[in-house]
Amino acid sequence: MPDLKIAAIAGSLRRDSHNRWLLAASQELAPEGLTLDLISLDTVPLYNMDLESDYPVAVQEMKDRVIASDGVLFAVPEHNYSYSGVLKNALDWGSRPYGKSCWDGKPVILQSAAAGFMGGGRAQYHLRQVLGYFSMKQMYFPEVFVGASHTKFDAEGKLTDEMAREAIRKQLSAFRDFILGGRA
Ligand SMILES: Cc1cc2nc3c(=O)[nH]c(=O)nc-3n(C[C@H](O)[C@H](O)[C@H](O)COP(=O)(O)O)c2cc1C
Repeated sequence: MPDLKIAAIAGSLRRDSHNRWLLAASQELAPEGLTLDLISLDTVPLYNMDLESDYPVAVQEMKDRVIASDGVLFAVPEHNYSYSGVLKNALDWGSRPYGKSCWDGKPVILQSAAAGFMGGGRAQYHLRQVLGYFSMKQMYFPEVFVGASHTKFDAEGKLTDEMAREAIRKQLSAFRDFILGGRA
């Protein structure tokens, strides 16, 4: 079984981010043959074209790790019925300079944890439009939406909701097959 590496990015800078915790749960629940490389956006600056001539180290590192990956997992906070500005900023950086995008053609899956009962569904579907522009290979099902997320983790940030844990298991296992199938 080949060891597939997944670049896992949460679109939140919050220390106790539920979306960061989703990625921690995914790391724990990943099937054999799939490992997650957790990429933090903490030091990624706001996008500014002036910085492209002296590329920020944190951005270059993010891009290199995404390019070296076999696929991407975004954990998507829902902000005002869309995905977070933090995530959009990272997407914009990764797409530059023109023609040197790190996202191009990468297999991708989404997860979201949100306070509302929709579990971030609106954010995910907004995001998918942009991922289509990047020609990312989107796996649509199984989906992972964790609604009322403040009730789904314990004080240490462990995902305690068994339905959500099972959804993650199923999604990651399907993603492994999706990537391997796409290579045939
Ligand atoms: C600016 C802002 C807008 C938000 N808008 C929504 C929303 O549209 N739908 C929703 O379910 N939760 C919304 N929330 C609540 C987030 O789902 C909640 O804060 C969640 O924990 C954010 O993810 P994080 O913990 O990974 O940072 C919003 C939060 C913020 C800060």
